[in-house]
Amino acid sequence: MPAELVAIAHPETERFPLDEVIYTSPVSGSLLEIQLTGERPGAEALKRLWRERRMSNDPLDRSGVWRYRELLPFWPDFGHVVTLSEGNTPVLEAPHAAAFAGLDTLRFKHQGYNPTGSFKDNGMTCGVAQARALGMTRVACVSTGNTSASMAAYASAGGLQPIIFIPNGNIAYGKLAQALEYGARTLQVEANFDQILALVRELAERLGIYLLNSINPFRIEGQKTIMVEMMDQMDWQAPDWVVLPGGNLGNTAAFGKGLREMLQWGLIDRAPRLAVIQAEGSSPFVDLFQSGGCEFTPNTKPETLATAIKIGDPVSWPKALHEVYGTHGVVERVTEQEIADAKAVIGRCGIGCEPASAASLAGIRKLVAAGVIQPQEQVVGILTGHVLKDPDYVYRYHTGALDDPHGQRLASTFGNRPTVVPHDADAIAALLG
Ligand code: F0G
Repeated sequence: MPAELVAIAHPETERFPLDEVIYTSPVSGSLLEIQLTGERPGAEALKRLWRERRMSNDPLDRSGVWRYRELLPFWPDFGHVVTLSEGNTPVLEAPHAAAFAGLDTLRFKHQGYNPTGSFKDNGMTCGVAQARALGMTRVACVSTGNTSASMAAYASAGGLQPIIFIPNGNIAYGKLAQALEYGARTLQVEANFDQILALVRELAERLGIYLLNSINPFRIEGQKTIMVEMMDQMDWQAPDWVVLPGGNLGNTAAFGKGLREMLQWGLIDRAPRLAVIQAEGSSPFVDLFQSGGCEFTPNTKPETLATAIKIGDPVSWPKALHEVYGTHGVVERVTEQEIADAKAVIGRCGIGCEPASAASLAGIRKLVAAGVIQPQEQVVGILTGHVLKDPDYVYRYHTGALDDPHGQRLASTFGNRPTVVPHDADAIAALLG
């Protein structure tokens, strides 16, 4: 057995085989985590092997997830894998964004370069591999959009039926369009993300459908490789900070696990601090952190235009809290205006991202201003989704027509309006000077 499922609250007593279809411990209800067992090659050998694989044409080696397969629970049997060449996302220098944030330098790892345009692909390739290994025929998720787009693609590619549940009217069109195109059976529910998650968990159990939300520990395994690939791209020199948006908090859990394991296996000798950024109207994890980690109170009416992170009852908060503490990290909230402006700045870098992703830069700027991040520190911001996921938001911002969830007009601080001109060369020449 290459790995086991372990209850994070009772790791000694509640351990389960990988082929049990469970998402939380059937004994205590605790979240589950995969613990790898068995021998792996040493750190230097792994680093060499992973570099060599970048030159290979084997689809497993071309994948920015499966290239690191020695760290994944399927090892050494990869027969069920469905890969769309996920991962391989760049680390980009962004001097203009650095100046905006008050940093000397700033890099973004852009997960929007994934096949369906978000970091979900890193996790979904693993989740779908496990669904196939278990002999499941149908997979389901509730989603603010990106998980459903990704699950639809990987399930269809792997011959499984994708069934997605989405909060009616609350997901960006780019994401819904993808799910339809990739062939997902699509159910729009009149409820918010948190309410639908409870519903889908019940239906998955009742109908024998495999659940692929980030409560599924195999998703987390895939997403942890985002940190492994980042360290590989940075020649195993850890930055001081990794800053990412937080919604359901699966990614925070995954990044922390990836960093812990890399330390444990001697791949890195220090870990970056994690900074998790939430939108002000959907920030129960910030409240928890500020309460000293004692009291989690869900937000029953989450609000934000960054619909990807419009989540009031994040399922992975116990894991995420553990990982933030473990890296001496911080948690912060940013306003709708801060997100909108940071997003436009990322656009002006020629990079672009969707609204939730821009919480990273807005958060970095706030943490630099507060003296938590120092100007000379090495910072990597995670951009979680592609700019075209939510074109409506982009157009409204640039044309001064973007209202916050309470109907207040946001300033188009870095707006870039299109200009209507006559079909007349002289007039256009005069305009362009
Ligand atoms: N950024 C984007 C673009 C997302 O789609 C999500 C989550 C997050 C950040 C937050 O990540 O949940 O791991 O803390 N989207 C999920 C979805 C909830 O359904 O697509 P998290």
